[in-house]
This record gives sequence, C-alpha cells and structure tokens, in this order.
Amino acid sequence: MNVLLIGGSGFIGSHLKDRLVAGGHRVRSLDRVPERFRSDPPQVEHLYGEVGNEALLDAALAGIDVVLHLAWCTVPKSAEDDPTFDIQSNLILTTEILKGVVRHRVPHIVFFSSGGTVYGPAAREAIPETHPTQPICSYGVTKLAAEKYVAVFARRHGFRATILRCANPYGERQDPRGAQGAITVFLHRAACGDPIRIWGDGDVVRDYIHVDDLAEAVAASITATPASLRILNVGSGQGATLNLVVSQVRAACGRDIETIHEPGRAVDVPWSVLDIRAAARELGWSPRVELLEGVSRTWAWICREDLRPTASR
Ligand SMILES: NC(=O)c1ccc[n+]([C@@H]2O[C@H](COP(=O)([O-])OP(=O)(O)OC[C@H]3O[C@@H](n4cnc5c(N)ncnc54)[C@H](O)[C@@H]3O)[C@@H](O)[C@H]2O)c1
Repeated sequence: MNVLLIGGSGFIGSHLKDRLVAGGHRVRSLDRVPERFRSDPPQVEHLYGEVGNEALLDAALAGIDVVLHLAWCTVPKSAEDDPTFDIQSNLILTTEILKGVVRHRVPHIVFFSSGGTVYGPAAREAIPETHPTQPICSYGVTKLAAEKYVAVFARRHGFRATILRCANPYGERQDPRGAQGAITVFLHRAACGDPIRIWGDGDVVRDYIHVDDLAEAVAASITATPASLRILNVGSGQGATLNLVVSQVRAACGRDIETIHEPGRAVDVPWSVLDIRAAARELGWSPRVELLEGVSRTWAWICREDLRPTASR
C-alpha cells in the first residue's frame, strides 16, 4: 500500500515508519521538520513543510491509498494554556487534510485521537467506545471536534475513516523533555539525577501503551477491511497509578529517585483505562509489551542517547 504519514517526524510517526516499511508498504511522510532523535530513514520519502501549503499537500497525497493523520500542534497542557491556538491550529489543519483527501479521492484516513481525554470522567472500569464523551479539557474538546469533522467528511464523500482513540503511548524517541509522557519524562529526570514531580497524590490511573504495540495496531488498522467509519480504543487495557509507574521507573533504573508532590490539576480525570476488546476483535491485535519491559527499553534508549538537559533540536 502507498501510505502517507502527516506528522510523520513525531514520536509515533517515527515508529510507524519502521513498522510500515517492514510490512512492505511504500511510505511517504509530510512534516514541517525532520525527526528529532535520528536521521530520517532513507526507505521513506520525506516531504517537508506545512499542511497549509496546498501545493505541497497535493504532492504528498498523489497516489496515496491511506493517510495517517498524526499532525497536532498541542498537548493537553499547551492546549489548556491557549485554547484559541489549539482550535485554530488543529481544527484547520484537520479540515485542510480532509479537503485534500477528497481532492485526491484517497479511500481511507486514519485519525489519531485521544482515548485519555475525549471521554472525560468515567466510572472505575474499562471505558468502551460507546461511553459518553464529556471532555474536561481543551485538548479533548478539539480532538472530539476533529473526530466529528473526519466523520462528516467521510460520510459525505464516501471514503473510509478509522479513528484510533490512543491511550498514553510511551517509549523510545518520545521527547523526554516534553510536557507529555510521564514515563519518558520520569526516566529522563532519573537519568539527570533530578526529582520526579507528581501532580496530586500519585493515585491517578492511566493506561500506558508501549509505542511498538500502538504501531502494531495501526499496521493492522490499515490492512483490515474497515467499515465506512469505525472508532477504536487502542491502549494496554490495564490501569497503572503514577505511584506504580514511579516504582517501575525505580526498578528499571536500579536507583532510588526522589518524588515531589504538587497540587493535582483540574484537567486530569482521576481514572482512565480503555476497553480494547473492539480493537482486539476487529484488528486481530493485542498488546504484548509489559509495563516493566517497556519502561526498561525506554531507559536503555535514554542511557544510549545524549539527552542532557542542554541538548536541543
Ligand atoms: N503522544 C501521546 O501521548 C498521544 C496520545 C494520544 C494521541 N496522540 C496523538 O497522536 C498524534 C501523534 O502524536 P505524537 O506524540 O507523535 O506527536 P508529535 O508532536 O511528536 O508529532 C506531531 C508531528 O506533527 C507535525 N506537525 C504539526 N503540525 C503540522 C503542520 N501544520 N504541518 C506539518 N507538520 C505538522 C509536527 O512537526 C510533529 O512532528 C497526535 O495527533 C497526537 O495528538 C498522542
């Protein structure tokens, strides 16, 4: 298949390139920048620039069978700080991509949504795709709005759409200095000898999925014959408290790490674990990387790389 990754230089896109090339696909990537933590792989065709550049987007979409829409300009923290930018950047780039998909009659788009934010508060049981969506943060609202645009365009123009509501991916090549990805950030702080800062008492529960497991699900989602519109949760299906994550980080590093507790944030739901049975059924997929194994692999990567606090892109 001819696959286009929009936002292919980011954390998840970087892993998808490897997985899709290994699966025999022809892969093209459009991003405003090259990859951050390695040279762009030569087996992938790379185009650089903005989604908003229509000529460039048209060149990227030519001859493509499936578009993976990964481009996003905010994380939950930055979206909360500036909801106007969150809307203006992400919703407009999404509709530009959708208009391009229509122009080029691309038969299938996969959109990366957020299983951790679109549902909002939930009872302490695995959240199915049919759960009400009541996001309590800007990032979740914008992701949900983008999902709706994908659905509207897909129905109106007759292309297939897969919406993947991703849990909390982590792993190698996630920016350890970023504002997203507790595991990688904690490991980096441990490597630097810095204390780990935790919002609240550490009882917040999240569903952490190693990026290799996410990449397997995505690879399955582009080859499995999709319905016209399907929405799938992709996570580990397991809950872990931040306190458990800290203990796994300590075990992977083999050192004691100081923790500092700060006040909890209103935008964090206390509990988010995804019900992944639909993805398992429809994609013939299941996650394989146990939390300690994934944390240990990420630790090994951080130790290999030059990720001192002063290093920058
Ligand atoms: N990482 C997570 O924890 C997580 C969780 C759930 C969902 N997601 C979603 O998955 C997708 C990929 O996540 P990621 O962690 O790889 O993000 P990332 O920030 O690492 O990568 C996104 C890429 O999109 C590119 N981009 C943004 N706007 C662009 C534009 N206008 N034109 C061209 N390129 C543009 C950026 O340069 C970046 O390389 C995003 O949509 C994200 O919201 C991520």
